[in-house]
Amino acid sequence: ELHRIPHPPGRLPLVGDVRGASPRTPVQDSMRMGRQLGPIFRRKAFGKEIVFVGGAELAADLADESRFAKHVGLGVANLRPVAGDGLFTAYNHESNWQLAHDVLAPGFSREAMAGYHPMMLDVSERLLAHWDRERAAGRTVDVPADMTKLTLETIARTGFGHDFGSFERARPHPFVSAMVGTLTFAQQRNTVPDPLAPLLLRRATRRNDADMAYLNETVDGVVRARQASGGGDGDLLDRMLETAHPETGERLSPENVRRQVITFLVAGHETTSGALSFALHYLSAHPETAARARAEVDRVWGDTPRPGYEQVARLRYVRRVLDEALRLWPTAPAFGREARRDTVLGGVHPMRRGAWTLVMTALLHRDPEVWGADAERFDPDRFDAAAVRARPPHTFKPFGTGARACIGRQFALHEATLVLGLLLRRYDLRPDPAYRLRIAERLTLMPEGLRLRLGERASSS
Ligand code: HEM
Repeated sequence: ELHRIPHPPGRLPLVGDVRGASPRTPVQDSMRMGRQLGPIFRRKAFGKEIVFVGGAELAADLADESRFAKHVGLGVANLRPVAGDGLFTAYNHESNWQLAHDVLAPGFSREAMAGYHPMMLDVSERLLAHWDRERAAGRTVDVPADMTKLTLETIARTGFGHDFGSFERARPHPFVSAMVGTLTFAQQRNTVPDPLAPLLLRRATRRNDADMAYLNETVDGVVRARQASGGGDGDLLDRMLETAHPETGERLSPENVRRQVITFLVAGHETTSGALSFALHYLSAHPETAARARAEVDRVWGDTPRPGYEQVARLRYVRRVLDEALRLWPTAPAFGREARRDTVLGGVHPMRRGAWTLVMTALLHRDPEVWGADAERFDPDRFDAAAVRARPPHTFKPFGTGARACIGRQFALHEATLVLGLLLRRYDLRPDPAYRLRIAERLTLMPEGLRLRLGERASSS
């Protein structure tokens, strides 16, 4: 029934819908097509035809877990050589998914989160010290690079008791370069037909092999250090190594532990870094929003040098800024859904069991039917309690949906809200007036080239 789903005009034989599209910007190209073609469309490249959903009604139907489940395809499937049957890349039928999910879920409970909070604060203080030095020297700060340092250190320390020393380095840690390499390769791999990949991507494949080897070596080192030290304080790594399943008594195999450590080190920092970077971009571009958020931080935190766990959740407006940034630029920009059995999507589009589609989150988050004619405009008040209640369910999905939704959601939101609060309280965030938001894509989204000048904060009386 594909013929009822529109595709871009000017489809070329063999190569497909590649006119005006770039392998570097698959998400932004799909967003453009979606705006022209409507809530569901298809795109063909090199013999692969992919159906995209960007409309809220269809996306809500795809959230029905009785008929649909996560689909491991495209970019996610391309990460299987790195992350294997780790939590993010596991197929639904792989038994290690349920095992690891049950063993690791308590690591994301409220109590666990409260336990991570002091370590998150320690890492944030490193960022503040670094930004103080940059401000004193009259330099601008590289926002995505510094947010990546922060989020990598946070997941490494809270989850694995490991210190990458990111703030003591001028350049990104080689773990980050290797990770960006594998993410970029996984994206690039989508744009080349399978049989031609060995030929067209020979050099890239070789580099990717080296990147994967580096990631493996790094995590093996982290695991060895833990085993040598005889155990940590019950963090994620302890759970992976020592905790047996509460019912079956089963444990994760050493190979699976390696997959999980890579998964959490990567999934646990890259997207949060992007979310923080986009939020800082919007705060710098909207001084009135920043002033309101700053006033809230002052009111809720006062001068407390180290705000407590409970005080973070009380930053309601700061959290709305973050939500609004994730609405416009969901840093994990798509998720796959497949039919569990023969079904009809939205009562219109028949799908065979196993057929799948990609939900384009940024399109869903800008559907004018839900978000209004001004959906492209940044406005944190879209997330005040009354506005949220008034919206239909399944319209805001930056963390995916259902059983395979993000396990780290609370972790990311707590960390990012804490950091935004600390930065707002300390700095006036001044944009470069010439900067125009550019989006870098490497499976995830990042504001490219975003630098800010840090001023003394204006007093909020
Ligand atoms: C899954 C987004 C932070 C770990 C997901 C999915 C999305 C997502 C959309 C579902 C993907 C799919 O359906 O294919 C985000 C965003 C984050 C974030 C936007 C930050 C703003 C984190 C953090 C961690 C984490 C901090 C770990 C500490 C995971 C894992 C999965 C996952 C392990 C796979 C869950 C499963 O399938 O059981 N994330 N994530 N994420 N995320 Fe996150």
